[in-house]
Amino acid sequence: MNLKLKVWRQKNAQSEGKLVDYEARNIPPAASFLEMLDILNDELQAKGEEPIAFDHDCREGICGTCSLTINGIAHGPSATTTCQLYMRTFKDGETIYIEPFRARSFPVMRDLVTDRAALDRIKQAGGYITARVGSAQDANSTLIPKTAADLSMEAAACIGCGACVAACPNASAMLFVGASVTHLAALPQGQPERRERALRMVRKMDEEGFGNCSNHYECEAVCPAEIPITVISNLNREYAAASAREAAI
Ligand code: FES
Repeated sequence: MNLKLKVWRQKNAQSEGKLVDYEARNIPPAASFLEMLDILNDELQAKGEEPIAFDHDCREGICGTCSLTINGIAHGPSATTTCQLYMRTFKDGETIYIEPFRARSFPVMRDLVTDRAALDRIKQAGGYITARVGSAQDANSTLIPKTAADLSMEAAACIGCGACVAACPNASAMLFVGASVTHLAALPQGQPERRERALRMVRKMDEEGFGNCSNHYECEAVCPAEIPITVISNLNREYAAASAREAAI
C-alpha cells in the first residue's frame, strides 16, 4: 500500500507545531499503524531526518500508552487501540491525518507524544484501596454477587489511554474516573474509602482542567475497552451521595 500522510510535527512543548507531508510506500496491509510509522521512521533516519516521536509500549492493546488521533478520531476508525489498528483498514492511496490526542490537560511534549500524567494524578487521589488484602484466598471466601463482580470487572477493563478525553468536546475524563469509581465501589474491598474516593477523584479531575460530561457519548464510541457510559451515571450517584454525607457532617 502507498499512503499520503499528514503528520503533526512539534519540536517540544514550547514550540508551535504543524502538519508535515510524508509518503509511506510499500506498506504491508497486515502491518499495524505503529509498524507503518516504524517503516516511515526507518526511511527518515536513513535520510538523516528526525524520526517522528510517538508513544507506545505493549503494542497488544493492554497498556494504554499508544495515543494517536487518526483522521480526527482518537485511536482511528475502528474503536481499538492505535497499536491494534491495521493498515488494511485504509485504502491504497488514501491521505491520513495523524495528530496527538488533543486536550488542554494533555500538553503535547513532542510530535505525537502527549503528557497524560494528569490521569495518574487522578488515580493517586483516590483510585485505590488501603485494605491489606494479603495473599490470594480461596475464590469463595469473600462472597460477591455475580452482578457486582460483572459490573466491577467490566469497569476494571479501562486501560487509562485517555481516548475518552481526546474524543469529548469538553475534554471530560468522566468515563475514566467513572470506570475507576465503579470498579471499586462494587466490591467489598472498595467500601472503606468509597465516599472519599468519589470526592477526591472528581475534585482532582476538576483541578487538572478536565471538563464535565454533557452526554455526547463520544467517549463510549472510541473506548478500546468498551467501557459503557453508564459508569458516568454511577460516578454521579457516588459523588452526590458522598457530597450529601460530607455536608451533613
Ligand atoms: S501500546 Fe499498549 S495499548 Fe497500544
